[in-house]
Amino acid sequence: MAKNILEATFMKDFIKVTHDMWHKGWHERNGGNVSYRLTTEEVDKYVDTNSGSRSVELFRAIPELSCEVFLVTSAGKYFRNIILDPEENLGIIEIDEMGKSYRIWWGFLDNGLPTSELPAHLLSHASRMKATDGQCRVVLHSHTTNLIALSNVLKLDTATFTRTLWQMHTECIVVFPDGIGVLPWMMPGSDEIGEATAELMKTHSLVLWPFHGLFSTGVTLDEAFGLIDTAESAAEIMVKSLAMGGAKQTITKSQLLALATTFGVTPLDGIL
Ligand code: 13P
Ligand code: ZN
Repeated sequence: MAKNILEATFMKDFIKVTHDMWHKGWHERNGGNVSYRLTTEEVDKYVDTNSGSRSVELFRAIPELSCEVFLVTSAGKYFRNIILDPEENLGIIEIDEMGKSYRIWWGFLDNGLPTSELPAHLLSHASRMKATDGQCRVVLHSHTTNLIALSNVLKLDTATFTRTLWQMHTECIVVFPDGIGVLPWMMPGSDEIGEATAELMKTHSLVLWPFHGLFSTGVTLDEAFGLIDTAESAAEIMVKSLAMGGAKQTITKSQLLALATTFGVTPLDGIL
């Protein structure tokens, strides 16, 4: 008899982080999605992996994710309801050996499916696993109001966004020294935006979709949440500064370099 999955630490942590994200104001309606890579050992005791569950073809083969297991938010569902009914608003999938399809082990009640941004999530996992020696486990996507607002006024490139955010708050260069990758506007849910996001994820743990939102990654849910929170707070400071007539001074280049030295981080090349 399988144990109650709602008692699992990974499930409690997932529900907590998605509820915190909702309270941050980053998840209007069905906005945003999360995927959390689990180990088979973590999941085995809670789900019957031999049960006849649904199998769905992937948009393309991702052999790097062979046999990986993910807890994912459902397409079209609201973050604010996850805490009320996890089994309808979340699901667990396992990628097959060839990386060509996934099987649903748990959740997605009433014929639900994983988020429409599954291409961006899975391809980002593949990128970040490679970039972090297999450590990265989490991909979060949020509709961060202030970062979206800045995409209306800042030049849409990685250097401009990264430098601007680093200059807004002392902790930014330490928390995301690898900067924030910026894509051009692209169609959400498409394979193309997934491939482009994963390409930027080779060198950045944060990727901005202008006029849409942010992708954040991390080893833990806390780490990925903290990254979004830090970048979005810096964006809020910029928005407030612009509303007060624009920044008259910011952290200088030499102060940023000194921060990097003191905290032992290597700032992304070409920004300072
Ligand atoms: P889903 O409801 O399919 O996760 O889509 C929400 C979203 O934010 C699309 O970018
Ligand atoms: Zn979105």
